[in-house]
Amino acid sequence: MSELIDGREIARAVTADTAEMVAQLKARGIAPALAVVLVGDDPASDVYVRRKISECGKAGIRSIERRLPAECDEQSLLTLIDALNEDRSVHGILVQLPLPAGIDSMKILDRISPEKDVDGFHPVNVGRLSTGTGGLVPCTPLGIMLLLDTVIDDYRGLNVVVVGKSNIVGKPVAMLLLEREATVTVTHIETRNLPDIARGADVIVAAAGAPHLVRGYWVKPGAIVIDVGITRVVEHDGTTRLVGDCATHELGHARAVTPVPGGVGPMTIACLLKNTAIAAERQA
Ligand code: GUN
Repeated sequence: MSELIDGREIARAVTADTAEMVAQLKARGIAPALAVVLVGDDPASDVYVRRKISECGKAGIRSIERRLPAECDEQSLLTLIDALNEDRSVHGILVQLPLPAGIDSMKILDRISPEKDVDGFHPVNVGRLSTGTGGLVPCTPLGIMLLLDTVIDDYRGLNVVVVGKSNIVGKPVAMLLLEREATVTVTHIETRNLPDIARGADVIVAAAGAPHLVRGYWVKPGAIVIDVGITRVVEHDGTTRLVGDCATHELGHARAVTPVPGGVGPMTIACLLKNTAIAAERQA
């Protein structure tokens, strides 16, 4: 049987380290604070934002929630970001995505001060990541690396297949893996022969948002599989269930896999707290 990589337990350890870092910052008179901005009332975004805010407390981070109505104009969101950028008591700013239609996400992300961009989505941080020159690293890719670090010592020359080319996961995790000198293939919806490509992988990072896309026959024996997908599906009896991008029940021959839920998800939030502490430290 494959090993299950316990994201909840590893996330707790990351958050304990962050709490330690926060305590040291507080001893120096710096109280790390994260502002979370939610526009509109998308139920999934609402759940994520609540969770992010409630987790802040576990690391001793102050959280500030700012909500704007779905029909707000772009300018009022920009004005809010300007105020948070100016506020020296705020160290991290997160604008929950997706934003309502009519608001230009890139323009909004561009406005967040790169030093406070705890999501790592600002072009300056994207550029720093792609050149390996520091900056704030997106939370999910950072969390994926911390999970992989528990089962991989040396990435050099490993064949890694990333399924999905999103700006939030696929592209940045590919950059982090390249920094560690893995051989990285990024695949996407137009990729041909995806199962054949995946079968060559020592590590698969599945981040397509397509339930059970990665099947057992895609995975070579002994491979490591990170499942980033989390889709709510409705069963025949009307109940709902969270499903990942991998058919995990077919992956008994893998070396290690992450469960859904309880794998990558908790790591994303733990890394958000970690990034907030790092941002506070750098602003000190
Ligand atoms: N929506 C889905 N994932 C994310 C994320 O990592 N950060 C933000 N801000 N919004 C998201």
